[in-house]
Amino acid sequence: MPVKTFTARAHTNIALIKYWGKKNQDLILPMNNSLSLTLDHFYTDTEVSFDQTLKQDSFYLNHEKQDTAKITRFMDLVRAKAHLNSFARINSINHVPTMAGLASSASAYAALALAASKAAGLELSRPDLSRLARRGSGSASRSIYGGFVEWQQGHDDQSSYAIPIEEDLNWDLCMIVVVIDKAKKKISSRVGMQLVIETSPFYPAWIKQAEQDLSAIKKAIKERDFKKMGTIAEENAMKMHALNMSASPHFSYFEPASIEAMQLVELLRSEGIYCYYTLDAGPNVKILCSDKDSSRILTRLRTRFAKNQLLLAHSGPGVRLIDKK
Ligand code: PMV
Repeated sequence: MPVKTFTARAHTNIALIKYWGKKNQDLILPMNNSLSLTLDHFYTDTEVSFDQTLKQDSFYLNHEKQDTAKITRFMDLVRAKAHLNSFARINSINHVPTMAGLASSASAYAALALAASKAAGLELSRPDLSRLARRGSGSASRSIYGGFVEWQQGHDDQSSYAIPIEEDLNWDLCMIVVVIDKAKKKISSRVGMQLVIETSPFYPAWIKQAEQDLSAIKKAIKERDFKKMGTIAEENAMKMHALNMSASPHFSYFEPASIEAMQLVELLRSEGIYCYYTLDAGPNVKILCSDKDSSRILTRLRTRFAKNQLLLAHSGPGVRLIDKK
């Protein structure tokens, strides 16, 4: 049988209402629904082909050979669905700083879900792709779609997947990413979220708050109320980070420069420039703002951060197949 190669591109997403905790670690079922914005600037291209001559999966990331343990577990799901027993060649190019809190795993597993399922001869619907991507990394379930996306927690494999809230935004929104540190994070999201569930006394309050924040932000999005949306997103992120600081042992992803960037955003707001921050499992600060304010905000950020630490992104598309160069 000739070897068929498929290449998929998926963009990363940044959660405005965070997912922080699993109720089922094996199936990756989250404790709460989350909502994100897919970004145009950061993406992963992944090429997959199954080959009967291979003795194991082969995985290259940015042209470097990687350990295949985790990816083989994911590929086993694809093989089981397609009744295939051959291994695959997987080549990924990440246009996202790997493991820097920019959720590169989201774009990586969304691209892999599409490329691998196509290469295996499957025609999965977008909900099915979302379910499959979720098994690699929870946030990847949302990168199947563009724009605003909600991951509905569900209660089993079938009911936990993302749905689009608004794919093509007709809204002059952007996100400035302040890259504080490109190094790999010290505490993985997997370990961090488990620790807060087990030890933070505030975890039950988080679940209640996340539910309220989600319905409030969906209303703000619908009404195009930027200030309300930004305020809810910023406060939701701080509630997530408060869980980390209230865990035992407590931990934090903030670096001194993260706090400087957050304070600068607050200062800009006090001057009437509306912008809001969010942080994930890493020190980078993502600033939500209107397009019309982005150059003023960037100018101010440049007084403290180098030009190459500042990246501007807009709403991006969902996962799709691309032509191999
Ligand atoms: O999907 P993971 O395991 O990379 O976890 C993502 C967790 C956060 O980025 C902090 C929040 C989110 O909803 O994306």
